[in-house]
Amino acid sequence: MQTQEQKFKIIDSTNSEAQRQLKNDNPPTEDFVIRADFQTEGRGQRGHTWTSTNAENLTFSYVFMPEKLEVQNQFLLSQTASTVVADFLVNHGIQNVYVKWPNDVYVGMKKICGMLIENTLSGHYIKNSIIGIGLNINQTLFPANIPNPVSMTQITGVHYDLDEMFCKIMEMLRTELHNISKENIPALKKKYMSKLLGLNKVMIYSSHGKIFKGIIKDVDSHGYITIENADDNTEQTYDFNEVNLIIPEQKKD
Ligand code: BTN
Repeated sequence: MQTQEQKFKIIDSTNSEAQRQLKNDNPPTEDFVIRADFQTEGRGQRGHTWTSTNAENLTFSYVFMPEKLEVQNQFLLSQTASTVVADFLVNHGIQNVYVKWPNDVYVGMKKICGMLIENTLSGHYIKNSIIGIGLNINQTLFPANIPNPVSMTQITGVHYDLDEMFCKIMEMLRTELHNISKENIPALKKKYMSKLLGLNKVMIYSSHGKIFKGIIKDVDSHGYITIENADDNTEQTYDFNEVNLIIPEQKKD
């Protein structure tokens, strides 16, 4: 199956362009992807911005139109996309790859990939999902204000062909997204949990202005995370935006 691809040299944000195209009078009815060399207003989670040097990394939005995916199962999209990126990195010989809840990808304690997933609902179903992915590939210099960034080339020393990398990751994404089914839910959860940064380990979290030592116990089917407070052993379940893993500044390479 071919997915229609559009590449821009420069655009505000591939997610925003995907949104505009979905609002056209004649919107696409099949999966498509928007890719850009450079974004002037790349968007991140929680209102943050995403900066990426011109033509050094992958910045793209895969627009997935599921056949029948219930709204209550939308976290499957985060689980699928983040584990695909993690597998992609492992396939390129990178070790210590983790998913940081809900869907960032880290190598050790450094961030290599961020995702912004924006879903449109129709009744009880997902009509379309814009899966925006920023994956650091060849960049070696990052602005000082970006916390703990890393790229593939910084880890492996290889300079990658971006078109080739894009084709490979697209193929994996397309396959795994179309594989989502009720039957695959337990296997997907198992895979996601096996890659989760902080599972059963004491780490530092912040929530509602309080800092505490905690241990991730579970992430449920809605994507809510349960963390045990390591001091008083109480468990609490958090929604997105309610809790943050605090990662101290890592040594620069
Ligand atoms: C985050 O870590 O906060 C999420 C970053 C997501 C960045 C990607 S780059 C391609 C797509 N277009 C955007 O504007 N954002 C996502």
